[in-house]
Amino acid sequence: MARLVYFLVFILGLVMIMNITGYQDQKIDSTKFDFKKLAEKNTAKAEEIKKLMAPKKKVVVVKQVEVQGPLVELTTDQLKKGAALYQKCIACHGKRGEGKRGQKAPAIGGQHNWYLNTQITNMQSGTRVNKVMMTYIRKFSAEDIADVSEYISKLPYMGRK
Ligand code: HEC
Repeated sequence: MARLVYFLVFILGLVMIMNITGYQDQKIDSTKFDFKKLAEKNTAKAEEIKKLMAPKKKVVVVKQVEVQGPLVELTTDQLKKGAALYQKCIACHGKRGEGKRGQKAPAIGGQHNWYLNTQITNMQSGTRVNKVMMTYIRKFSAEDIADVSEYISKLPYMGRK
């Protein structure tokens, strides 16, 4: 048992000596100890810590609620009637009059009032042939055509689809 203890002490001593002999590899920093620099470093750190510890500002998230009003302000009787008549046209020409490729229906929203009026009148009389639309405009009076044309011309033009 004693031998084992001697042996262990011997090994321990060996390890210590080996450690001490390694001192030559240790880097020696001969620069002067800069208290100023250290102080600056620490104050900077302290400030950083202060910032981190400061109570967080409450972030108020203001949700932007999109007001979904009517596309066209229905300020006149004509526009009101026109909007009602246009309901049947939405299936093909779209809510904004942007048109629908699948229906081969062109964009008409924001088009000139007088042009729309002429086209619908011509379609009704057969001067311009448009079979698909005939069922929708057959019973239109001249006033109806004027009303719906007025409404369509006021639609915000949003580009084709
Ligand atoms: C079934 C689908 C359909 C419906 C519903 C429809 N349209 Fe059309 N519309 C078309 C198509 C297709 C054309 C293109 C016709 C052509 O090529 O000449 C067209 C063309 C037009 C044009 C001519 C556009 C231009 O640039 O020359 C006007 C104006 C128009 N529609 C207005 C209306 C109005 C107003 C209504 C509702 C009362 C309506 N349409 C309902 C399919 C439709």
